[in-house]
Amino acid sequence: MLPGSAIRTNIVLVGFMGSGKSSIGRLVAGRLRFRFIDTDQAIAERAGMNISEIFTRHGEAHFRGLESSVLESLAHLDRHVIATGGGIVLRGDNRARLRELGFVVGLKANESVIVERVSRNTRRPLLQTGDPRETVRQMLAERQPLYDAAAQFTIDTSYLTHTEVAVVIIAKARRAFAWQNAT
Ligand code: S3P
Repeated sequence: MLPGSAIRTNIVLVGFMGSGKSSIGRLVAGRLRFRFIDTDQAIAERAGMNISEIFTRHGEAHFRGLESSVLESLAHLDRHVIATGGGIVLRGDNRARLRELGFVVGLKANESVIVERVSRNTRRPLLQTGDPRETVRQMLAERQPLYDAAAQFTIDTSYLTHTEVAVVIIAKARRAFAWQNAT
């Protein structure tokens, strides 16, 4: 962002699957009276099928195309909390767009907590492998640097309640928005 240019009044949540983006995002939005958008939900609505079906029928590359075009379509938003899919940071163009959208918050959790959270359902096609823990380990090693680089602030959700995380995010975002407006 250029010095002096105002930050958009949105909060963008990035992080690995199971880090809490959707649940915490909803909570933050409710407390701030912002609207909530989940990019996966928007993709599923556009495609007329759920995420697993998109992967099965059309493959990951097609899904990534939809993901980028949904992200592009959010450029006009204000006063929204935007929860993103865990793979959105893989494309450099997406990472630049995330920053343009607003205050980017990284949510993280340790490997064991992620494995426990994501094993509650089968909605994540990339984790339906013979050894989900190993898959999570490898993907985290590859992606955590990308989340860290994309986020302006990161919080570990492993042992915090959703409310505790939401309170911290709101305080940080208020400061970021106020600071920008004052310059
Ligand atoms: C993905 C994460 C998922 C969803 C898709 C791919 C990923 O979103 O976009 O299954 O590559 O990490 P969540 O992070 O909301 O689970």
